[in-house]
Amino acid sequence: MTTNHSQRTRVLTGITTTGTPHLGNYAGAIRPTLQASRNPTTQGFYFLADYHALIKCDDPARIQRSTLEIAASWIAAGLDPDSVMFYRQSDIPEIPELTWFLTCVTGKGMLNRAHAYKASVDKNNLAGNDPDADVTAGLFMYPVLMGADILMFKAHKVPVGRDQIQHIEMARDMASSFNHLYGEHLVLPEAVIEESVALLPGLDGRKMSKSYDNTIPLFSSSAQLKKLISGIVTDSRAPGEAKDTEGSALFQIYQAFASAEETASLAKAYADGIGWGDAKQMLFERIDREVAPMRAKYEELINNPATVDAILLKGAAKARELATPFIQELRHAVGLRSLASAASSQGHAKTARAASPAFKQYREQDGQFYFKLVDPQGRVLLQSLGFGSPKDAGMAIAQLQQDDAKALAALGAQVKFGEGASAALVAEALATLRAELAEKAKAKS
Ligand code: TRP
Repeated sequence: MTTNHSQRTRVLTGITTTGTPHLGNYAGAIRPTLQASRNPTTQGFYFLADYHALIKCDDPARIQRSTLEIAASWIAAGLDPDSVMFYRQSDIPEIPELTWFLTCVTGKGMLNRAHAYKASVDKNNLAGNDPDADVTAGLFMYPVLMGADILMFKAHKVPVGRDQIQHIEMARDMASSFNHLYGEHLVLPEAVIEESVALLPGLDGRKMSKSYDNTIPLFSSSAQLKKLISGIVTDSRAPGEAKDTEGSALFQIYQAFASAEETASLAKAYADGIGWGDAKQMLFERIDREVAPMRAKYEELINNPATVDAILLKGAAKARELATPFIQELRHAVGLRSLASAASSQGHAKTARAASPAFKQYREQDGQFYFKLVDPQGRVLLQSLGFGSPKDAGMAIAQLQQDDAKALAALGAQVKFGEGASAALVAEALATLRAELAEKAKAKS
């Protein structure tokens, strides 16, 4: 059976171009993504998020260099640009255009609650500064740009780290709001969290990260790699003394590259008192064995940046075959269209959608006040227990409308999901309600 393009699950992920790929990026992102990219039932979209890079980096040379290094790393590691979509975000002008469309359907309140923005505000508050001191509008708008990356290509699945889940939820929210106002154009994406993916410790034992300055670059020379590995922290146990595998950064890094048998034999060597120097030599050899074949390709690409440019431009042209007609469709949907075309509000969802989800408040025989959230078909999505006063029930509803995840957590056992309902369905219904409220407010103004 051949797999039709439009049927394949679209998996999309972006890499911010601010750093040099290290072993942690390789084991945690590049290697698993490449494996997934060979699945014939999925279509991969992998892009260099260089517009996002501008939010945290104002060093043009570093952005340029990082873009080259990341692109070269992915290709050297085996990404086949012809079988996936591999492009640079800034080569797709449809993305900033979609960012604006989404900006206009995104609640500012939702962006206020974005973790990265909130963290900056909290820090400022703690320091007694203005809450928005040194916060750019770019940081504030980060989730909307990311939403455009995802929604532009109708991605179904977005593999991300835990810290990015909220952004995917926001992208869903933006898509629902847009669809509600303008018709079903955007696909609601789902976050995919890879639980089994290796999180590597760095040289000092903390998580390998550029911000801790404890990384081992993926493509250093053999000699450099050896030197860096010799600097991994160990305890002071002498050769001959048994070593603990637990909490050993060296062991964990080895495990991320070795087979189960190799790992078992290093564990045995630890128990038998292998010297740290010998253990480091084993780690070096194991990593070098995996990296060496890619190193030549990487060097070749780094030394021929024009080749990488050409690969990325070809990828962008391919991606724009999807993006250009799609943005046309969206422009038309929102009313940016030929003045001669029939002046209807066709495609406006209001007519297509007869009913909406709704909160129903009522009083029971027991004198208590209840509410439920029902979907357009009248099925119960959420059911409350009794509240002492209508005001309390109303407040719970208001909280749910503001921030469903937080309110659900706060309400705890006071609310139950209806049969077959879930947090996701509740979130979707509330997003629809929010979009409606926004629409009504707009109509009034
Ligand atoms: N924000 C992501 C990160 O920091 C990078 C990114 C940008 C991204 N756009 C994306 C990831 C779209 C997934 C989908 O890791």
